[in-house]
Amino acid sequence: MAKVTLSVIKADIGGFPGHSSMHPALMELAKRELTKVKGKLIKDFRVLHCGDDLELIMTHSKGVDNKEIHKLAWDTFKKGTEEAKKLKLYGAGQDLLKDTFSGNVKGMGPGVAEMTFEERKSEPIMIFMADKTEPGAWNYALYKMFADPFSTAGLVIDPNMHGGFTFEVHDLFEHKKVMLKCPDEIYDMLALIGQPSRYVIKYVFRNSDKEIAASTSTQRLSLLAGRYVGKDDPVMIVRAQSGLPAVGEVLEPFSFPYTVAGWMRGSHHGPFMPVGFCDARPSRFDGPPRVICAGFQLSGGMLEGPADMFSDVSFDNARNMANDVADYLRRHGPFEPHRLSADEMEYTTLPDVLKKLGPRFKKL
Ligand code: 13P
Ligand code: 13P
Ligand code: MG
Ligand code: MG
Repeated sequence: MAKVTLSVIKADIGGFPGHSSMHPALMELAKRELTKVKGKLIKDFRVLHCGDDLELIMTHSKGVDNKEIHKLAWDTFKKGTEEAKKLKLYGAGQDLLKDTFSGNVKGMGPGVAEMTFEERKSEPIMIFMADKTEPGAWNYALYKMFADPFSTAGLVIDPNMHGGFTFEVHDLFEHKKVMLKCPDEIYDMLALIGQPSRYVIKYVFRNSDKEIAASTSTQRLSLLAGRYVGKDDPVMIVRAQSGLPAVGEVLEPFSFPYTVAGWMRGSHHGPFMPVGFCDARPSRFDGPPRVICAGFQLSGGMLEGPADMFSDVSFDNARNMANDVADYLRRHGPFEPHRLSADEMEYTTLPDVLKKLGPRFKKL
């Protein structure tokens, strides 16, 4: 069986209005560009958006980190940026940190999650896309999906999952990675991934056969750019069923709107709210941070879908709780822990404030 590669490449190339959502013209442009190469360079594609982030979902046979595929995404974002500039959309080209393409979009601004695998007899895939948060936002959900039997029943019940999963965790500050085999090493892993600003789960593999189960984007724009340039608004691919978490087990972690970093000016903690596609347009205080999930069945590399997975009443309580938490946190105004810690602000706005006030500080 030929292997298929799934590439999800995303960028904020301009918001409409402000940072809230996507102008239809940009979606149309991306669809036109990808249609030109459908059946040639790529097998199939879908264009979606989460808030102000344009999401290109592509299947092909070129493998991960492929120059042609990355160039296709980059060129599409570049053309979209020209359109965004014409329409004077907000932050046109926001995530394109470089002028010229250098072979791989990694480190250039766009976020990338990719995986290559042999398509199973039936291949359900969940693609998660977030706005107003950072890559570490997936840590909690991935832990619940692949390591917590109180969330994923299959870890106990399904003999094919009972052996557990191995997590590849990246240290985004020191550019290092470590493999952690769970359940044996869950305490060590939690020590790391509980600091999602620094340690991020990049891949998950099934222990019994090393089969890939999940892949995330791990860009941190502020670390790349050395200044505040908007949040990363990450994406994640998760395979489901038949010895992997069932679709409902993949979604279950989002029934709790856990707290993530991002929201207004990328500088506040807020609840991670699961929403249907039509609600992926953060408005209140530019948020709260949002996640959508597009469900697909792969069929010979073709994408059957998307199904709008969070457009379901069973996530209403999560949304209500998220709104209550948003009310509660907002009343803190500029106070931590609603506002991110000084550590995090160092990569955003604090240096300028300290520089300005520097000469006025007197020794105690
Ligand atoms: P500006 O309005 O100055 O761009 O900043 C506010 C904001 O939206 C931060 O991204
Ligand atoms: P984005 O990262 O989604 O562009 O949001 C930036 C922002 O500052 C929102 O307040
Ligand atoms: Mg934006
Ligand atoms: Mg965004």
